[in-house]
Amino acid sequence: MSEVTAATPRRLLVVWHSFTGATRSMAQALVDAAREAGGNGLQIDLLHAAEAGADDVLAADAVVFATPETLASISGAMKDFFDRSYYPLLGRCEGKPYALMVCAGSDGHPTIAQLQRIATGLRMQEVAEPILVCTHAQTAEAIAAVKQLPEAELERARELGALLAAGLELGIF
Ligand SMILES: Cc1cc2nc3c(=O)[nH]c(=O)nc-3n(C[C@H](O)[C@H](O)[C@H](O)COP(=O)(O)O)c2cc1C
Repeated sequence: MSEVTAATPRRLLVVWHSFTGATRSMAQALVDAAREAGGNGLQIDLLHAAEAGADDVLAADAVVFATPETLASISGAMKDFFDRSYYPLLGRCEGKPYALMVCAGSDGHPTIAQLQRIATGLRMQEVAEPILVCTHAQTAEAIAAVKQLPEAELERARELGALLAAGLELGIF
């Protein structure tokens, strides 16, 4: 008698932080598209940076890090996530695919460079161009305001989600 075993689903982890909603909506759009593209063969975990840790990264087949830029750096919650996870991950996630999404009021490049340095230290493999969203928030009022991103920006997140889902399903990643 042959035994039918279901294939273990591939796992996509999205670690996010957001103050005013922009990064959160990008992360959600990415996850929605990945769910649609990946179907039952893909397990997706969307975790706030405060809830995520090294074990979540180790369990994932690919990881997205999504953060706002604050003071030319990753946000404090994302920094705390890496402070807790970096050494537990060191030497244990070589080649693990990752992608980045950064929302910034005017720049974002320092944050992308910082995330890439961290991921390089962990020997992770970047599998897509980083997504940088400029929210044009440069005054105290604009920075504090809840952000609603244009469809075109959310579409970039959806495309990345679909790409990651396809790559995981096809075994490219
Ligand atoms: C304390 C603080 C510092 C910030 N520093 C920067 C910065 O250095 N560069 C930049 O481009 N935007 C900066 N911003 C703007 C945020 O990146 C921007 O508002 C972004 O849309 C926030 O994303 P969120 O809606 O996901 O929280 C800062 C915002 C805050 C609250």
